[in-house]
Amino acid sequence: MGKRLIVPHPRLGLEPGPRQRETKDRAPQAASEFDVLAIAVPKVGGFAARNETAHTLPDVANVVVPVVGLALMVGRCDTESKAARHARQMRAEAAASLGLARAHPSAGANATAMRFANKICIVTGGGSGIGKAASRQMASEGGCLVVADLDLASAQATVNAITAAGGTAIAAQADVGSSAAVQAVVARAVASYGKIDVIVNDAAMMKFGPIADIAEADFFATLTTNLGSVFFFSKYGVAHMGPGSAFVNVSSVHAYATSPNVVAYASSKGAIEAFTRGFALEMQSRNIRVNAVAPGSVDTPMLWNNPNVKSGVEKLEGPIGKPEDLAAAICFLASDEARFITGATLLVDGGRLAKLP
Ligand SMILES: NC(=O)c1ccc[n+]([C@@H]2O[C@H](COP(=O)([O-])OP(=O)(O)OC[C@H]3O[C@@H](n4cnc5c(N)ncnc54)[C@H](O)[C@@H]3O)[C@@H](O)[C@H]2O)c1
Repeated sequence: MGKRLIVPHPRLGLEPGPRQRETKDRAPQAASEFDVLAIAVPKVGGFAARNETAHTLPDVANVVVPVVGLALMVGRCDTESKAARHARQMRAEAAASLGLARAHPSAGANATAMRFANKICIVTGGGSGIGKAASRQMASEGGCLVVADLDLASAQATVNAITAAGGTAIAAQADVGSSAAVQAVVARAVASYGKIDVIVNDAAMMKFGPIADIAEADFFATLTTNLGSVFFFSKYGVAHMGPGSAFVNVSSVHAYATSPNVVAYASSKGAIEAFTRGFALEMQSRNIRVNAVAPGSVDTPMLWNNPNVKSGVEKLEGPIGKPEDLAAAICFLASDEARFITGATLLVDGGRLAKLP
């Protein structure tokens, strides 16, 4: 049993007494993680927090409190049994690859937070690298995944890994630079699961060549795939997303500092961050958050296939991250833990941009 928290129940519209204020400040976090162990109820003549020795409750509270408390406990049980069913193996794998386990603050040593329990998550580019790691991490924390990728076989491989571990996921083949394809993914997610809670716009491409020589088609294909996809998923996905939902867009350090011959890619990533800020403002009144991560060098096929990296035009100084390092940041921003963060880009580059050249 973890630490006892005494919190006001929002439906009762109650405030805690002065001695509970510090606890109250932490309460929404705890409540979102099903950690409510006692509920504040009114005392005759004023508000006070219930505790084990106070027996001055009005009759109505004696009925309401146990019922609400029971409902919350049932919710917790459901979530935890889903955790046991869906995620044990993948949690262990993800934790092992990160070298840590996300222990729930009030849980036993073997318990792990389930930040995506009952959440429907679309991850583009989920067949490889960062998107694959993010898909697996979200599924390991209870998320129901739609793994979208241009390459259906790789998306299906990610789904197979998730379902083999007891998780829930479906694969969707899509060119995310196509409006019709994106709308089909959104429709599939809604038809399969009934709603969308999280969209991770991860899929991207790179075309190389100096501006004077690059084909117009290559320049605009890069913008359409990388930036257009963010626009399409935002425009068509948001209609199915409720309060508390979140977008996470994957940018790059190339939004800040770049090398020759990747102007199209760098432009698309800079634009993604501007898009993220503006769309976040548009979504504020709906309590839908929009954030981005900007990875540095990450050990994925995209990094090692990069001709600028192969030729040494782009030097890889500093540590190389693992896809799971980015998945950790993406999952944080997509989760309720980041409820006060919107319109932001989190630099996840192992300090690469911090160093003067
Ligand atoms: N790896 C790095 O060093 C690095 C650095 C900065 C930013 N990023 C960004 O991280 C994200 C993920 O990259 P990664 O390194 O995991 O690459 P990756 O090559 O491992 O995975 C990219 C995935 O996107 C898919 N994809 C490509 N074009 C698509 C399209 N039109 N429609 C649907 N899917 C498509 C690919 O099939 C692949 O599965 C990208 O946005 C990339 O720009 C990566």
